[in-house]
Amino acid sequence: MGRMPKRVLFVCLGNICRSPTGEGLLRHVLAERGLDGQVEVDSAGTGAWHVGEGPDARMTRAAAGRGYRLAGAARQVTAEDFRRFDLIVAMDHRNLADLEAIAPPPADRRAELRLFSHFLPPGSPADVPDPYYGGDAGFERVIDLVEEGCEAIAGHLVGDGGDSRS
Ligand code: 4NP
Repeated sequence: MGRMPKRVLFVCLGNICRSPTGEGLLRHVLAERGLDGQVEVDSAGTGAWHVGEGPDARMTRAAAGRGYRLAGAARQVTAEDFRRFDLIVAMDHRNLADLEAIAPPPADRRAELRLFSHFLPPGSPADVPDPYYGGDAGFERVIDLVEEGCEAIAGHLVGDGGDSRS
């Protein structure tokens, strides 16, 4: 069992749909487990188009329909985030590649970098699909996947082996 990560950052493209959902749902799961306050949870985007904006209204509505609250203002991820966070979770492969491109050298970073789907059961989609240009079903799908993964991430944080792959 590794040390318990204390700071988790979700990263997507715009930081208004998928990563704020990761942030909000992980906070929810941690609170349910009595672990809120022990883990800092944040989100950021690889792109800067929406910096300063709140979560997308369609995403916020879909989350509220399942009892989750999304909050925060979009910001762009930085190399410094690799020094501050213990775990950085990329929502899709493009986000992962963009993060690898700005990551400081291994000796100069703290963060473990993972794809979100690392925390999903085998056979799950490799990416949390970008819902921005699609319809309501895409936002519901984001919540389905993020709910499942955040339970596993919470387990990973407390060392119960909740991630499905090593
Ligand atoms: P997100 O969704 O990466 O899940 O926040 C997107 C938000 C905005 C854009 C693309 C994806 N955009 O092109 O502006």
